[in-house]
Amino acid sequence: MPDRRPILFFDSGVGGLSVLAPTAALLPRAPIVYVADSAGFPYGTRSEGEIAARVPALLGRLAERYDPRLIVIACNTASTIALQHVRAALDIPIVGTVPAIKPAAALSQTRVIGVLGTEATVRQPYVDDLTARFAADCTVLRHGSAELVELAERALGGESPSPDRLRAVLDGLFAQPSGDRLDVIVNACTHFPLLEGELAAAAPHTVRFVDGGPGIARRVAYLTRDQDWPEVRPAGRAVFTRLDAAAQALAPALARHGLAVIESL
Ligand code: DGL
Repeated sequence: MPDRRPILFFDSGVGGLSVLAPTAALLPRAPIVYVADSAGFPYGTRSEGEIAARVPALLGRLAERYDPRLIVIACNTASTIALQHVRAALDIPIVGTVPAIKPAAALSQTRVIGVLGTEATVRQPYVDDLTARFAADCTVLRHGSAELVELAERALGGESPSPDRLRAVLDGLFAQPSGDRLDVIVNACTHFPLLEGELAAAAPHTVRFVDGGPGIARRVAYLTRDQDWPEVRPAGRAVFTRLDAAAQALAPALARHGLAVIESL
């Protein structure tokens, strides 16, 4: 019998699709379950205590229900706050998503990089630590935006964000001292790569964007390298903790990501 256990991707909303896509491309037969904690969305404006209590408990329920071989926390906010708690609670490999400061620092010519995340992510000590380890010679500007998360959710449903709103969000980085020399932006929220083209077009000068998706895909492929997969990938599942009309309306976009079945937890 082939091993049909899925890889489970977890986010507060649809942002984790930016992590699912490169992983699914690298592992074409992997069964996939995608979970959006829509009942807890958004995470970025919650407290550390709320995230640290909610995420491990929810992932415990999900692990029982879907028996995943590996879990990807496809959310920077949940990972920078709760990764250790989840690893302590579950006996399954857990891959987290943390701001891609290391690749950004490797790319930057001007040594000024931006970290664009949720308000919760940009204030985490985890970001201080990544900065000290990988970007000590860079000026690292940070900005948190709940609005950009909302705009990305709506964009997946087909609603294009206004360039003016995106410019206003980006100003949070470019208007800081040294912002005029910024040459690389870390998309430190998994929702933001969904708007990368629009953000690039709205930026006041050319910048490169990096995110954790491709690195996570390689990590998942490495961790599952000796495992067995079904002959053909089964239809993926999208699971919502609150399955309302807004979630149902995402069906076509989810189907484009191979998630043909939609259900509630
Ligand atoms: N996609 C999430 C992240 O990577 C969080 C978005 C939110 O719920 O605020 O941080």
